[in-house]
Amino acid sequence: MRIIFCSPGPKPEPWLAGLRAALPEAVVDNWQPGAPQADHAVVWAPPQQFFDEQAGLKGVFNMGAGVDALVKRRLPPGAVVVRLDDAGMAVQMAEFVCHALIRHFRELDAYAADIARGQWTYRKPLLRADFPVGVMGLGVLGERVARAVAHFDFPVLGWSRTPKQIEGVRCIAGQARLDEFLAATRVLVCLLPLTDRTENILNAATLGRLRPGGYVINVARGAHLVDADLLALLDSGHLAGAALDVFRTEPLPPEHPFWRHPKIAVTPHTSARTLRDESIAQIAGKIRALERGEPVAGVVDPQRGY
Ligand code: NAP
Ligand code: GLV
Repeated sequence: MRIIFCSPGPKPEPWLAGLRAALPEAVVDNWQPGAPQADHAVVWAPPQQFFDEQAGLKGVFNMGAGVDALVKRRLPPGAVVVRLDDAGMAVQMAEFVCHALIRHFRELDAYAADIARGQWTYRKPLLRADFPVGVMGLGVLGERVARAVAHFDFPVLGWSRTPKQIEGVRCIAGQARLDEFLAATRVLVCLLPLTDRTENILNAATLGRLRPGGYVINVARGAHLVDADLLALLDSGHLAGAALDVFRTEPLPPEHPFWRHPKIAVTPHTSARTLRDESIAQIAGKIRALERGEPVAGVVDPQRGY
């Protein structure tokens, strides 16, 4: 069995060593143009030339949860595309979103500013009942986030394509009920995959339906959000702030207004990182399962786009 690795991002050597250790029966190569045909590929954002050359792949394993960049490529006709299924990302996402939520709800930035001025001040405690949290996307990451937020006793809503049942979460499904979900939400967390249906979903109309003093936490993809609409709603006072981890262009260009906006907290696409050891173990297990003809979790539906 041959495995080929292709990623412009992390240094290939530790991934190659890890895959060789996890799959000693396989030959594992780093891709270069003209490399021999492999059975399975481990990739992040490979060029089209990679797939054109590796047309006989049986499995394409994405080194992340989001496959929006991958599904835009012309993929080998017989290949299943498999995304990372948690692999240590869900707990990171839960801690990141809870941190952003609590930082906002407990006014920790305002306290930090007071302390920096040498002021020992108190603010009137806010009521968590006034901060219902709505999680868009109740998949592997969204469900974990919704459960984590519910542990802090915030009212929690979730929105997904198909109906779900999650203890402590008011689950709402389908496009027809999006307005109902938004109108009941004050802190909006986006954990949708980026697809034709979800691109630009955070816009003037949808964000305008949030409760007054709304707060936006986007940890999914930058293209979910219409940047100018967010800025207008912050400036009008309808929205109180935003925590943004993902952007249309990454790194965020130096001139972008998000960098310096007083109501926006920017982080560099770091809310849930790919953890190499967990990911290699998961991918190796799935490659073996596919070779045995068994089903694996996290197979992408190319029509749906996630
Ligand atoms: P997932 O398991 O595929 O879950 C996606 C969820 O979104 C599902 O609940 C799905 O509903 C829902 N959904 C999709 N299209 C929808 C639509 N049109 N209307 C309503 N709901 C819709 O994905 P995941 O593993 O949770 O990851 C979510 C996204 O997080 C990834 O695609 C990626 O872009 C992003 N991400 C970001 C980071 C970061 O560091 N910032 C890290 C990892 C992932 P159904 O269940 O009903 O199909
Ligand atoms: C990161 O953004 C991922 O999709 O895993």
